[in-house]
Amino acid sequence: MRIVLGVSAGIAAYKSALLLRLLTEAGHDVRVVPTPASLQFVGRATWEALSGHPVTTDVWDDVARVEHVSLGREAELVVVAPATADLLARAAGGHSDDLLTAVLLTARCPVLMAPAMHTEMWEHPATRANVATLRSRGVHVLDPDSGRLTGPDTGPGRLPEPAVIAAAALRLVGQTLPDADGDGTGDGVVTLNGGERAPDESTTRGDGGQDLAGLRVVVSAGGTREPLDPVRYLGNRSTGRQGWALARAAAARGASVTLVAANVEPSVLTPSAPDDVVVRPVETTAELRAAVREAAADADVVVMAAAIADYRPSTTAEHKLKKSDGAGLTLELVQNPDVLAELAAQRLRPGQVVVGFAAETGDGTGDVLDHGRAKAIRKGADLLAVNAVGGGRGFGTPDNEVTLLDATGAEVGRAAGSKDAVAHALWDAVVRLVPPPVDSA
Ligand code: CTP
Repeated sequence: MRIVLGVSAGIAAYKSALLLRLLTEAGHDVRVVPTPASLQFVGRATWEALSGHPVTTDVWDDVARVEHVSLGREAELVVVAPATADLLARAAGGHSDDLLTAVLLTARCPVLMAPAMHTEMWEHPATRANVATLRSRGVHVLDPDSGRLTGPDTGPGRLPEPAVIAAAALRLVGQTLPDADGDGTGDGVVTLNGGERAPDESTTRGDGGQDLAGLRVVVSAGGTREPLDPVRYLGNRSTGRQGWALARAAAARGASVTLVAANVEPSVLTPSAPDDVVVRPVETTAELRAAVREAAADADVVVMAAAIADYRPSTTAEHKLKKSDGAGLTLELVQNPDVLAELAAQRLRPGQVVVGFAAETGDGTGDVLDHGRAKAIRKGADLLAVNAVGGGRGFGTPDNEVTLLDATGAEVGRAAGSKDAVAHALWDAVVRLVPPPVDSA
């Protein structure tokens, strides 16, 4: 496939050398189009050596070949990484003052941009408006990762890892990266039993990058808290990051999303929620259940990523509990309803796809997957994403690894990598289960 890799002037340009390697090693013919300023970060020789093609930056180079038109026309996929605030602004404004922006105007193939910049620049209303404009035109703009930026500062603005960008870009044209290490999981990419998603399947609901367009999805995230008294609660360590990644990934793929967020810190919900994600904050399991069921009444997909307290105190003290000298305290707990099992047993909408997560540790009675299989059968969800927790895995970590089981406990796929990569992998599996839209024509 003919790919144009655009590189604009950000320090993360060095990561695009790895992205280029991934794409060429996957057998693609990649032409690199850097902006003139980006050559301050990575020079022409690097791009020429790694791509095996001459590199031009200007519309005045090699005028006889009219490259600014031919490169865009011939491209089957355009990836811009890093996309700086300036590049996003010029692309949104329809400028064509260098070869890359000219290519963006002439290309008629899927375009993916991976922004990277300082947090303030990403969050500035001007950048938000430019991103919204590009997205409204069908450009697939990834959200940047959060983490360490160029200086000592941290926050949203980091370029996502090259494997994540490559996987997201190839997904737009119904392709995947080959499984480089042969471990069956791909590098941040899902493997689904039954083969890769066929290109025609990816277009059922719009173009390849918007395969959830027209779908309404509900995602629960975080961990519920059950109050003991006005200041104390029973809770868990879930941060809500995986649920947030699921909500963002669904929105980026065109879905309307309701995120039922149980005690999710605002700092987790960065970059700020895209317009097509409605966030419903909740605290207790009862509140979560009510919010999920209300939103699920007209949803196509419900994903229960929240860690839900199985028990709550039978009573909540009106005033702060006082200790009495030397005496212990026995709490009486009652069981909470199982929100996922209820949704699976009695669908709120015909054809609704219900997905659960299972956080498991192995024990003397079975390993993580044994427990996962038993839970899949017990809960009856269409998909159960089983992940190992404890020993530093799962909660609060940047990466995740899940095995996807169907309602009979059979394995349908695996995904490993960043929480964003796992989120996209899960939607890849969900998309196969959603009934095709009823043609009203
Ligand atoms: N879940 C739910 N309602 C509950 C408990 C869990 O909807 N009261 C959902 C979670 O959101 C998740 C799935 O069920 O999608 C599995 O959660 P998990 O905590 O792994 O399972 P439990 O049902 O709590 O089982 P156990 O603690 O016995 O392993």
